[in-house]
Amino acid sequence: MTFEGRTIWITGASSGIGKALASEFFRRGAIVILSARSTDKLEALKAELDHRSPGRAHVVPCDVTDGASVELAAAAVKRLAGRLDILVNNAGVGQRSRVLETSPDVERALFEVNFFGAVAVTRSVLPWMVERGGGHIVVLSSMAGKFGFPLRSTYCASKHALQGYFDTLRAELYREKIGVTLVCPGRIPTEISRNSMTGDGSRYGKMDAVQARRMSPERCARIVAYAVRRERKEILIGAPERLLYFFRRFCPPLYYRLAERVSPI
Ligand SMILES: NC(=O)c1ccc[n+]([C@@H]2O[C@H](COP(=O)([O-])OP(=O)(O)OC[C@H]3O[C@@H](n4cnc5c(N)ncnc54)[C@H](OP(=O)(O)O)[C@@H]3O)[C@@H](O)[C@H]2O)c1
Repeated sequence: MTFEGRTIWITGASSGIGKALASEFFRRGAIVILSARSTDKLEALKAELDHRSPGRAHVVPCDVTDGASVELAAAAVKRLAGRLDILVNNAGVGQRSRVLETSPDVERALFEVNFFGAVAVTRSVLPWMVERGGGHIVVLSSMAGKFGFPLRSTYCASKHALQGYFDTLRAELYREKIGVTLVCPGRIPTEISRNSMTGDGSRYGKMDAVQARRMSPERCARIVAYAVRRERKEILIGAPERLLYFFRRFCPPLYYRLAERVSPI
């Protein structure tokens, strides 16, 4: 698949991986539709992209946890574009709290963004994609969707849920030419650590030391774009977490020991 002239809707485009993906797809010739709640940040990104090549970036504000906002955004996307080639479900929020300290409200809030948000946005355009002859859905899961990791119990659960849902969607809709790429990055230095929810719902507000040293969002975006271009069904990004995933799959006792000892921040 090429990106030249394709329309790509990206949620969570105001920051981090979503912003880097928008820039990468734009660089490869796509028309990008930028969504998130922070309209000012989206407008700043649009201005930057317009400066590079005018008229190929659009801002459509959207809160993925609000059904009415998602429907309005989907209607705006349909007005803006004759068809939607690729949807990138990227909006997400992290967690930094132990199970014992995490309130049920926080657990639900994490699922509302990370799981139900992606499902709602997908649902809002999927029939249209099918009607127009197909499309591709990119889902930002995580290595946390492959194994458990301390301080991220519900975050991990929400990403595992994405895996089950979108593996099923792919299997059900391949005849309708709907493809799915599940993206599972390890730690990438974005705002995710600072924006993470703590056990009482307050913002964590710190950049984790380990996170700060890892692969840049721009490099991650280049790897994702390559995987989408090749229509890969799943991609794991980040060497240390891939090793942990390997242990989880092929040598579980080693994973159990490492998961107890690994630095979660
Ligand atoms: N960074 C990592 O280490 C890492 C690793 C694996 C997976 N991921 C996944 O990658 C995705 C992007 O994360 P990131 O690292 O780029 O984090 P980030 O810098 O904090 O960006 C998160 C994005 O999600 C948006 N968002 C949050 N809540 C939203 C809502 N209710 N409605 C619409 N947009 C919302 C934010 O925009 P507004 O606040 O403006 O709405 C922001 O654009 C997430 O799904 C995350 O789980 C990240």
